[in-house]
Amino acid sequence: MKSAQAWRLGIKDAQTFPMPRQRGHLKKPTWIIILVSLVCLFLVCAYVYPPQNSAACYVFSSNGCKALQTWLPPGPARELTDDEIASRVVIRDILKTPPTMSMYPKIAFLFLTPGALPFEKLWDKFFQGHEGRFSVYVHASKDKPVHFSRYFINREIRSHEGNMGKISMVDAERRLLGNALKDPDNQHFVLLSDSCIPLHDFDYVYNYLMYTNVSFIDCFEDPGPHGSGRYIEHMLPEVEKKDFRKGSQWFTMKRQHAIIIMADSLYYNKFRDYCKPGMEGRNCYSDEHYLPTYFYMLDPAGIANWSVTHVDWSEMKWHPKSYRAQDITIGLMRNITSIRESVHVTSDERRETQIRPCMWNGSQRPCYLFARKFLPETLDNLMLLFTNYTSI
Ligand SMILES: *[C@@H]1O[C@H](CO)[C@@H](O)[C@H](O)[C@H]1NC(C)=O
Ligand SMILES: *[C@@H]1O[C@H](CO)[C@@H](O)[C@H](O)[C@H]1NC(C)=O
Ligand SMILES: *[C@@H]1O[C@H](CO)[C@@H](O)[C@H](O)[C@H]1NC(C)=O
Ligand SMILES: *[C@@H]1O[C@H](CO)[C@@H](O)[C@H](O)[C@H]1NC(C)=O
Ligand SMILES: *[C@@H]1O[C@H](CO)[C@@H](O)[C@H](O)[C@H]1NC(C)=O
Repeated sequence: MKSAQAWRLGIKDAQTFPMPRQRGHLKKPTWIIILVSLVCLFLVCAYVYPPQNSAACYVFSSNGCKALQTWLPPGPARELTDDEIASRVVIRDILKTPPTMSMYPKIAFLFLTPGALPFEKLWDKFFQGHEGRFSVYVHASKDKPVHFSRYFINREIRSHEGNMGKISMVDAERRLLGNALKDPDNQHFVLLSDSCIPLHDFDYVYNYLMYTNVSFIDCFEDPGPHGSGRYIEHMLPEVEKKDFRKGSQWFTMKRQHAIIIMADSLYYNKFRDYCKPGMEGRNCYSDEHYLPTYFYMLDPAGIANWSVTHVDWSEMKWHPKSYRAQDITIGLMRNITSIRESVHVTSDERRETQIRPCMWNGSQRPCYLFARKFLPETLDNLMLLFTNYTSI
């Protein structure tokens, strides 16, 4: 099989190579046999000793090299380490076990905040009348917030300071998930920040998240300096550069996925130790890479690849747009709620834009359930418009 393929490739290459001038001196069949043998030898060598860098590709043009790699059968797979085998069998079994359906399935809303929650009044309005179908957890990493809403009182979990980008941010997310998993009725988990607001009414959000079999975890390949440029080879062998992914930290996930995060120490430790600000002159941010990479490697079909929390990066600054009181109009809210395509832009100079329809159970639907970043001053306008913009 393999040699038959190499033979066919050999013929194909023989036809495209320029003919050497002295071919007239050799009899035609001899010449073909020699050339085909050389090509076969080269292909076998390329297969057994795959090029470690692109230098080998200069033998042909770079396009020729790409084509060569796709013709060849994949090289022998890397042997997994003991830790990887252990980790994968556990994860595979958790993912294969259907979740125990609870009689009263709830959505857990996990608030990750430095201190105060300026939109408690808005969330109170959102939750009202839906008791028993949700639960709230608050991780306040700096100051203990004063609560106004009964849904938030006594819902704080023990916390530690979480700095953007450091693994402590991921630790806070895991702590929230761990606490929320204690309640077996929590079936889907939503991570929100203090600047997040709801874009739809409770029933819409509940149905959107509960009646799907995926987690809304943002994940894309960014070959630029803010993507794979942050990868360092200390993450080998478990995390290869080709698997390194990027995405916004604001996820929603189903229970099985929350459990496999609890079960992980192998990949978590890699990111804790080698993806942090100031790592060998590079700034890596675990909260933007750990979950996208983990799910891309272990359950790519189980994630939607976009985040249901909208944010506006169109100003191309270091921080996304922050909405002020005067920005809040029905027009803006309707614009955000009607978006039906997710957009990813790479951080290299090509600034490649990837646009994908937001598919829910096989049909295209609006992408977003929540949005950020809203300044506290927007609260009054949002309260006034809430019933209008959430009614579709
Ligand atoms: C998902 O799609 C299938 C097939 O179109 C349909 O039978 C099912 O009811 C849908 N589920 C929901 C929750 O809408
Ligand atoms: C989710 O459901 C869709 C059909 O609604 C199916 O095609 C897909 O394979 C399912 N995905 C998973 C991860 O179960
Ligand atoms: C998400 O992307 C992965 C590849 O990265 C793909 O296999 C998977 O099907 C995508 N998920 C959905 C729901 O399309
Ligand atoms: C809404 O979107 C339209 C079309 O993209 C744009 O022209 C308009 O300025 C937007 N309105 C607001 C208030 O953002
Ligand atoms: C929402 O606001 C729009 C524009 O101001 C208005 O035309 C519409 O009647 C309002 N809808 C409701 C349900 O209040």
